[in-house]
Amino acid sequence: MLSNLSKLAVVIIGSAMVASNGNIAISTVGKPIALSSWKAPHSAWKKKNPIPMSAAAIQAGYAIFSQNCEACHGSNGKGDGPTGAFLNPHPANLTKASFLAQTDGAIFWKITHGHSPMPSFRDSLSRKQRWEVINYIRHAFGKGK
Ligand code: HEC
Repeated sequence: MLSNLSKLAVVIIGSAMVASNGNIAISTVGKPIALSSWKAPHSAWKKKNPIPMSAAAIQAGYAIFSQNCEACHGSNGKGDGPTGAFLNPHPANLTKASFLAQTDGAIFWKITHGHSPMPSFRDSLSRKQRWEVINYIRHAFGKGK
């Protein structure tokens, strides 16, 4: 389904340890990072979304979200997708007011760059697709705002 996710699975399996009782302990590498520590640069905040909020863009964004984001962020955007449960930090809750208060430009920058364990989508999604998925996020999780 997702090439980025399969890479991630390899990383997780790579660091799994079988304890003497046969249980498997999974640890992800690196320190937990508070969400607030991940900030888009000022220049990114000012970028405007060039894709109008149309039914077509929302539809396209929905398809992009379900194929590339939902496994971690959950179908309702709350960050509780099945893959996300194993990640540290947990995937962000995209329905929170503090998240939605960011500009489309800041969100675009984050989707483009990623922040481990969130992959970068610079190569796997076109610029248009990255803006469309933001339209979907605004429509579905931000009540169209
Ligand atoms: C492998 C799991 C994974 C996938 C797939 C994934 N994310 Fe994330 N995402 C995360 C994690 C984990 C974080 C928190 C990263 C951090 O704070 O360091 C995050 C954070 C974010 C943020 C920043 C939230 C904030 O508070 O500013 C945005 C925006 C985001 N993801 C959007 C997306 C979109 C859109 C997609 C699909 C194109 C996607 N993510 C796919 C795991 C994932």
